[in-house]
Amino acid sequence: MALHVKEVRTQFPILTRRVNGKPLCYLDNAASAQKPLAVLEALRTCFDESYANVHRGLHSLANETTAKYEAARTKTAYFLGAPTPENIVFTRNATAAFNLVAYGLMGTLKAGDEIIISQMEHHSNIVPWHFLRERLGVIIKFVAVLPDGQLDQKHYKSLFTTRTKLVSIVHMSNVLGTINPIADMVKIAHEHDCLFMADGAQACVHMPINVKDLGVDFYALTSHKLYGPTGIGALYGTTQALNALQPFEGGGEMIADVFENKITYQDAPYRFEAGTPAIMEAIGFNAALEWLSQFNPADVMAHEQALYTYTLEELRKINGFKLIGDAPQKGAVLSFTLQGIHPHDIAQILDKYGVCVRAGQHCTQPLMEAFGVHSTTRASFGIYNDFHECDQFIDALKKAIKLLM
Ligand code: ALA
Repeated sequence: MALHVKEVRTQFPILTRRVNGKPLCYLDNAASAQKPLAVLEALRTCFDESYANVHRGLHSLANETTAKYEAARTKTAYFLGAPTPENIVFTRNATAAFNLVAYGLMGTLKAGDEIIISQMEHHSNIVPWHFLRERLGVIIKFVAVLPDGQLDQKHYKSLFTTRTKLVSIVHMSNVLGTINPIADMVKIAHEHDCLFMADGAQACVHMPINVKDLGVDFYALTSHKLYGPTGIGALYGTTQALNALQPFEGGGEMIADVFENKITYQDAPYRFEAGTPAIMEAIGFNAALEWLSQFNPADVMAHEQALYTYTLEELRKINGFKLIGDAPQKGAVLSFTLQGIHPHDIAQILDKYGVCVRAGQHCTQPLMEAFGVHSTTRASFGIYNDFHECDQFIDALKKAIKLLM
């Protein structure tokens, strides 16, 4: 279906509200996106009509709910181009997917083994590997970011040794918007017999993803940036990569048998989903993916890019404006600094004009250091944003600068 933004906006009840007396202008989509009626209705219907626990019941409600929960897995697999639903592990979010893989590798990695990540990673793709450094003596190497926000591919290639076991790189940066050449980077990692994990938390919102084409061993995403509920994300893994991980959390559902002197596990993905899972969240996530699938991803991307380009052109006219991240391949994330003005002050004043942006380090402290900034202001665009909101943001920003200078 063609993208009619006016019509899309009617499906997001929150967009009609006012903030501080002004129309809401929500440009904090990279932090979390708003939810369409389809998601709200799916949650409501499930609670109203057929809610029970999954996988363990023999009654109708349990079976219906299990079918809906597993339908979410099938839909997620389809969304990512994964070969089977069994390649999808539901997690709490993308962060949990990284922790699952880090813990899962704890039994196989040894002191002196090496992991390559990059300077543009979110802390969720840094801290779990630091756990392995602290606990096992694993070495973490960082691919450098070039001034325009691309990864230095020569540097990347130079980091491999015979001890490199894993590469974990963000597909689209939450700060720079840079879209990294993941398929090419995977090829290089595989030539060195390394696993490759990609952080798709931002990328999968803005572009079609096919994990088979990318060639990744693991791919992490989260529902709440994809217009779905919080509390659920997914880890894609190849069958081989998933089966090589030791289970992360122990409890019900993930075991085959429990004896006094031994336990046996379910196959992947179930061995990684201990306890009652996020049932409603999975059903809401399924609704979000279904809702999103009515639009052509190329139209969504073109719309968001148009908003980005329009806004950037106006902001470039402001004295002291500096764009952070200008890679040739980038998504609709606009991070910037303004000389002499703290991003927190900007964000607080923008809020008075109804405009929501994020300001700070964006959970990417090494990236801030690489760019020599303490923090940035970030406007991030989503499917429901329109040019009127771009104008509201630009106008509010000019007023904020006047007040602060
Ligand atoms: N990772 C999210 C962001 O970039 C929370 O804002």
